[in-house]
Amino acid sequence: MDNRKLIFQQLFEAESSTFTYLLADRETREAVLIDSVLEKVDRDLKLIAELELNLKYVLDTHVHADHVTGAGLIRSRTGAKAAVARAANIACADVLLCEGDEIKFGEFALKVIETPGHTDSSLSFYIEGMVFTGDALLIRGCGRTDFQGGSAEKLFDSVTQKLWKLPAETIVYPAHDYKGFTASSIEVEQKNNPRLGGSKSKAEFIEIMSKLDLPYPKMIDRALPANQLCGLERTESEKQAGSIQMLSLENLSAAGSANSLLIDVRRPDEFVGELGHIAGAHLITLGPDLEKFLDTYDRSEPIVFVCRSGQRSMQAAQLAVQKGFESVGNLVGGMLRWNELKLATQRKTEQ
Ligand SMILES: [Fe+2]
Repeated sequence: MDNRKLIFQQLFEAESSTFTYLLADRETREAVLIDSVLEKVDRDLKLIAELELNLKYVLDTHVHADHVTGAGLIRSRTGAKAAVARAANIACADVLLCEGDEIKFGEFALKVIETPGHTDSSLSFYIEGMVFTGDALLIRGCGRTDFQGGSAEKLFDSVTQKLWKLPAETIVYPAHDYKGFTASSIEVEQKNNPRLGGSKSKAEFIEIMSKLDLPYPKMIDRALPANQLCGLERTESEKQAGSIQMLSLENLSAAGSANSLLIDVRRPDEFVGELGHIAGAHLITLGPDLEKFLDTYDRSEPIVFVCRSGQRSMQAAQLAVQKGFESVGNLVGGMLRWNELKLATQRKTEQ
C-alpha cells in the first residue's frame, strides 16, 4: 500500500476533547470519517467539500457517553452510511460491524478489531501503520470501564491480546486526549502506559480501574439516548408524544409501514424532477400545506415522511410528533438513497 495515496486529517473538538479522523483515497476521493461530533458536523462537511471527497462511511468506535455523534446528521446530508458495532444494537445504523470486517474506501480498507472493555461493543480500526483505538487505548491511559457494559477484565484482554499484537511501530490514534497529545505508538504505550504497559498483570489493572473513583459523566444522560438514534436527538415534546422511527429503504415496506401514508414533503418541481418520487407517495410540501394537513388528519394513522436527503422529512416527522401523531417514520437517506439503489420512481403527478 502506498500511503502517499492516503489523505489523512486529525480533527479536534475541545468541549469533549474528541478526535475525529478523516481518511480518503487521493485517487478515487472516497472517504471515511471516524468518531464525528454533532457540534462539528459543519466543520467536517466543509472540509470534505473543500477536499472534494465523497464520504462513503461515517463510523463510531463505540456508543459515546461524552458527546453526541454527528453520524445521523452527516448521513442525512451526504448519503454516507453510518457504521457501528453489531453488538451495540443501534437500530438506525446502516452497517453493523464485527471482528475482521473491512470498510473499503477506494483502494484502502479499515479492518475492524473488536476491543470490548471500555464499553461492551467498542471497536478499533486498523489500516496499515495506524490504529484508531477509540477509548480502548488512550495515550498513557485508557477509557473508564464502569459504564455501558464496561469490564476491566475484558479491556485488559482486548489491549494485551489484540492491540499489543499489532506491529510495534503502529501509530495509535485515540478518540480523546486531555493532555495535548495527538498520537502515540503501540511500542511506546506498551512500555509507558501506566495502566496497561510494562509488565502490568490483569489483577493489577483491575485493581487500578476499580479505584479510579471517577465522577458520573456529565453528558451521558443526553449522549446515550441520542447516540442510540445515530445522534439525532429527540426534543422533550417528542419524548412525550412518541418517537420517530428511522426507516431504512429496506424496512420501508416492512414493520407495518406498508400501511402507512407516505408523504413527500419536497416542492412540487422536485416531486416530478430528476429524482422522481415513490409510487403512492402524496406530495404535501413542508410548510403551511403540511401544517394544515397534519392539523386535520387522524393522529392514530401511521405516517412516513420522505424528502430529498432525509433532512426536511425529519423536520416534518418532528412536527407530526409534536402534533401528537403516534406512529411517525422518517425515510433515512431520502430520494437520493432511493435513486442510488436504483429503485423504481415515478415522475408524473398522481391525480
Ligand atoms: Fe467513550
